[in-house]
Amino acid sequence: MKSIVLIGFMGSGKTTVGQRLASELKVPFIDCDDFFVSKEKMSIADFFDRYGETAFRKKESEHLADLLHQNAVIATGGGIVMNEANRQQLAAHPCVCWLTGDFETIYQRINSDKANVRPLAEEKTPEELYQLYNMRQKLYREAADIIVDTEALSMSEIIEKIITAR
Ligand code: S3P
Repeated sequence: MKSIVLIGFMGSGKTTVGQRLASELKVPFIDCDDFFVSKEKMSIADFFDRYGETAFRKKESEHLADLLHQNAVIATGGGIVMNEANRQQLAAHPCVCWLTGDFETIYQRINSDKANVRPLAEEKTPEELYQLYNMRQKLYREAADIIVDTEALSMSEIIEKIITAR
């Protein structure tokens, strides 16, 4: 099986969907954010504080190159499309799935997910976050082989859509 790479804004459900999809397909699930933390031995928030976003993107890109060829379901960080090298890696990959949804739903999820500190969400006003969401839509669309609007779908329907389309 070719690996399935999930992309989408923070709070779009990449981790939750990815875990379920991996278990259905009986392949490992890899979360790029978790991989980052275990490799760098530091939380993403601390890494942003200490080294800034540009350094984070560089590391994230190196990690993506290590992970992409694995036979797994891979959930990327929401900003993976911000980097040209990553966009090229994703363009060359045959199975990239964009999980999308309305900003209001996504914003609520980000706000209620207190366990996950997302530096970009913390530092931005809702209006700024909405601008970022809008700006990234085009980049996700361009990178995606499969687009799933999760808004009105149950988890089982999302999984089925991805499995059918891959
Ligand atoms: C980021 C999204 C986060 C994480 C980091 C930066 C972004 O991942 O990689 O905080 O730029 O959108 P999730 O999309 O898994 O929250």
